[in-house]
Amino acid sequence: MSGKRILLVISGGIAAFKALELVRLLRRQGCGVTCVLTDNGGQFVTPLSLQALSESKVYTDLFSLTDESEMGHIQLSRAADLLVVAPATANILAKMAGGLADDLASTVLLATDKPVLVAPAMNVRMWLHPATRANMATLKQRGVHVVEPTEGAMACNEFGPGRLAEPPEIAAAIAALLAPGAKPLAGRHALVTSGPTHEPIDPVRYIANRSSGKQGHAIAAALAALGARVTLVAGPVSVPDPAGVTVRRVETAAQMLDACQSALPADIAVFAAAVADWRVEQAATGKIKKQPGAAPPALALIPNPDILATIAAAGPLRPQLVVGFAAETDDLMANAQGKLTRKNADWIVANDVSPETGIMGGAENAVHIVSAAGIETWPRLAKDDVARRLAQRIADALGYGGVIAHWFGSPDTSR
Ligand code: C5P
Repeated sequence: MSGKRILLVISGGIAAFKALELVRLLRRQGCGVTCVLTDNGGQFVTPLSLQALSESKVYTDLFSLTDESEMGHIQLSRAADLLVVAPATANILAKMAGGLADDLASTVLLATDKPVLVAPAMNVRMWLHPATRANMATLKQRGVHVVEPTEGAMACNEFGPGRLAEPPEIAAAIAALLAPGAKPLAGRHALVTSGPTHEPIDPVRYIANRSSGKQGHAIAAALAALGARVTLVAGPVSVPDPAGVTVRRVETAAQMLDACQSALPADIAVFAAAVADWRVEQAATGKIKKQPGAAPPALALIPNPDILATIAAAGPLRPQLVVGFAAETDDLMANAQGKLTRKNADWIVANDVSPETGIMGGAENAVHIVSAAGIETWPRLAKDDVARRLAQRIADALGYGGVIAHWFGSPDTSR
């Protein structure tokens, strides 16, 4: 990070004292740090301490004529490689989400085309308030990077999430973003489902399908290779866990939905699992016995929850890009397009799983990417290559408003 320039916005909050430590850590790593202090931030730390540690002028005032002539607010962000807001209060996050510019800090944040990292800190109720949830979702959707607050005892005598991450963690997030050749999905969280589900009939029998998990697992690995933090929710499969991915193993669709919901928030969700559409209404608690001469038992089935549709309807928690799969044996395109709208997905990866294709359980896949923009047909490829291409396509599509793209250089679309 040596030689990189960081514009550090310090907003008001008891955690503002930690900004002093952050400045010290960043300076020690060779970063130039320029501080912008809000009025409220100035109640907790003084411009003088920040100036001494950053060895730079500290900016506080939107209407200082000297500052405007020497270094206007546009210039402040132009001179930086990265803008960091730490601590970020509920108020400044709301201003950023709403596009308000009523002081120097919010104006700089609105005027910038540079990447922005926020480290929120606030009372647990403010952090969990639907307004803050919605603001965070908006900011993430626009490509703002987040160092999530931690859980613990707070200055206000409450307990929960909302404590500012420790300065070394914020410095590490900054380093990851500024690393040369930083990966395009660095700092993003991807949720992937993979494999079949098993729906119990009794303790020894279940309803299943032929999904191997190869494609979903390969997608999880490919997203991780592009720098994403990946949570893979996997049904019962025999393929190995991909390296560098957090794996949550489940059996049933209901457990898969639970695991997906508790993995949110996520920026990207890829639902590659072949979830059983139905489960037995009342699985027997003991093994169902064959009775000589008796008719086979009738299985009363009820529908499983649709995981993709549920997560795609998760309001402010909806991932920015939701990708579903359509494995069909008939009317592939019509079915895929129907799923796109019915399930509120952004893309459907459609593949023909008729037995003669050898795709289900096989090593190759031939897919079409169906979106509102049209249909893209890919050649038949190894499942690993489909995964790599899909992960790259996801990184390109998110593009994070072009903000990250110009900074990391153009994404490589040749893969
Ligand atoms: O309706 P169908 O099962 O064909 O839809 C396929 C897509 O929906 C896949 O992305 C699959 O992972 C997802 N799905 C789901 N939960 C279900 C059924 C399907 O997430 N219960």
